Amino acid sequence: MCGIFAYLNFCVPKKRKEILDKLIKGLQRLEYRGYDSAGIGVDGGNDIEKSEQPTILIKKRGKVINLQEEIQGREDLNFDLEFDTHLGIAHTRWATHGVPNNVNSHPQRSDTNNDFVVVHNGIITNYKDIKKFLIGKGFEFESDTDTEVIAKLLKYMYDTRESDSITFRELVEGTVQQLEGAFAVVFKSTKYPGQAVASRRGSPLLIGIASKSKLSTDHIPILYSKGNNQEALNTANSTSSFQPANGDGQVEYFFASDASAIIEHTNRVIFMEDDDVAAVTDGCLSLHRIRRSVDESSTRQVQTLQMELQQIMRGNYSTFMQKEIFEQPESVVNTMRGRINFDANTVHLGGLKQHINELKRCRRLIFIACGTSYHSAMATRQLMEELTELPVMVELASDFLDRKTPIFRDDVCFFISQSGETADTLMALRYCKGRGALTVGITNVVGSSISRETDCGVHINAGPEIGVASTKAYTSQFIALVMFGLMMCEDRISMQQRRADIIKGLKELPDKIKDVLKLDEEVHSLAQELYQQKSVLIMGRGYNFATCLEGALKVKELTYMHSEGILAGELKHGPLALVDKAMPIIMIIMKDGTYTKCQNALQQVVARMGRPILLCEQGDTMSQKEAHRVMELPGIVDCLSGILTVIPLQLLSFHIAVLKGCDVDCPRNLAKSVTVE
Ligand code: F6R
Repeated sequence: MCGIFAYLNFCVPKKRKEILDKLIKGLQRLEYRGYDSAGIGVDGGNDIEKSEQPTILIKKRGKVINLQEEIQGREDLNFDLEFDTHLGIAHTRWATHGVPNNVNSHPQRSDTNNDFVVVHNGIITNYKDIKKFLIGKGFEFESDTDTEVIAKLLKYMYDTRESDSITFRELVEGTVQQLEGAFAVVFKSTKYPGQAVASRRGSPLLIGIASKSKLSTDHIPILYSKGNNQEALNTANSTSSFQPANGDGQVEYFFASDASAIIEHTNRVIFMEDDDVAAVTDGCLSLHRIRRSVDESSTRQVQTLQMELQQIMRGNYSTFMQKEIFEQPESVVNTMRGRINFDANTVHLGGLKQHINELKRCRRLIFIACGTSYHSAMATRQLMEELTELPVMVELASDFLDRKTPIFRDDVCFFISQSGETADTLMALRYCKGRGALTVGITNVVGSSISRETDCGVHINAGPEIGVASTKAYTSQFIALVMFGLMMCEDRISMQQRRADIIKGLKELPDKIKDVLKLDEEVHSLAQELYQQKSVLIMGRGYNFATCLEGALKVKELTYMHSEGILAGELKHGPLALVDKAMPIIMIIMKDGTYTKCQNALQQVVARMGRPILLCEQGDTMSQKEAHRVMELPGIVDCLSGILTVIPLQLLSFHIAVLKGCDVDCPRNLAKSVTVE
């Protein structure tokens, strides 16, 4: 939800064109986070001492390409102008407050001179109070955003400062302390040329460092302005901050909402924590917090990302979503790699090792998530109950919070999230932590808030998922949860045969997924039949009910068609009224414990003149007799069939979206990482 990108070159001469290109490229990588509008802020001139060079703001409604074209057409910009040191900030927006238009785009500014400008991801919940206060002080507002108050509050702090020696960072600290809600922010100011200040609370932000010389340290100490490290702040200088060692001072810094935007420039990153304030002054990076609380780390580590640029490129595919669907034979292997011993039938999840006793002794398991991640929990619930013999609750994070669900110290709460940043899931995590439950993260993004704030967890290792509609993360979450269930029953004699069958199924999965992907042409032809319909129903039960919910969500979000996942057992309690010969109905029937009951549902549909489109197992002639269309899938152990059955539905939503001319990677009104409640 909104992407932030900023680039600071210190003593690294760059032409304005190069800087603009970097900003645009960074935004393009983050576009999946929001694409209502985009904007940048760059220096007006290259004389750092001259204050009469207001920051240039260029903002444009629509996608980043619109902004790029706007910049290219700006004849007043001298693209060859060279900057020895420069900070450019950029933003791609997913509107929360104020419609998507040029004025509401970021950067937002403090005044018509653009003295202070800011890019922001998140929501400021007390913005109305701050706005009222600032209007009382004579400020005039131009946008409908909550963000504008941040820039203007900073300006107010500057105008009313007690001493001229106040630093940019101190002003920002004073400002962000007044903010309530969630934010990641990067500030730029003509009053502090060549400096950057950034902070976060609840929204992700990381810092990339690129320097030819070796980094002087891998751990940057935090400087505290109150409490037990007052001295450190007073003596804050190059020893307490990062600067390139033995070099000519040349260094480049990047601030970004996620690593995909900076990986082509550097793999050295610092993940900022909530309430950190980062400042770059004279090429040195320092990290600050107001006060130190018990147990918190007093340093931030410079980490080396393993991600390859290639991993986030589209390759030969038309969209990221298509690429990610076809990556599933490999992504599921990456989820299992090093964790399953297929000869010994054992599962080892390193991230849970230290808590295994607590996990086994717990009173119930609670899975909390949103959207597709919630469906992965639904998909594995039955197996989890079977393997752990524990009560398993599956909760939508927002509803879980609304209900103020009772949570106890002996509960184990799982937070499943591709991005690891979804606000509802993160809030639920904090709620459960506060009540003493053991918290487990199932995330894809390493270093994300959920992966950091949970007590332990499993990274699903599906690789970067860029398409807004989640696909490969779903199948990898599914597998991560199955592995957890297997780990929990490793020492149960009565479970050994079942475990062996499931582990065999996991081994077969990559090849079977490849077989399912071969149905692409058939699915395309089905999409041609369906794409002008208003609605499609998807029915199944047992292990495949979650597939119906997930398939329907994919169809809705990508094609804007109505779609509903229906539990076949509920058919006669209402949905049967929808059935006639015109209504497209997809039925999933696999040869598992619900097969006979699914046959009943099939008969009920056919008896009402329904024309079922069947997803069934190869050779299931009994079901096929009744079908209008059939797609045959390979058989697999019952509890894993949901991994195979979801793929034709992912492909179907993709093909319908293409046929309807919808934007597959960026469906309207949505964003990849929903960091607001
Ligand atoms: C649907 C989709 C969303 C996400 C949901 C949770 O295709 O992607 O429903 O699954 O917003 O996101 P994460 O998993 O990042 O917490």
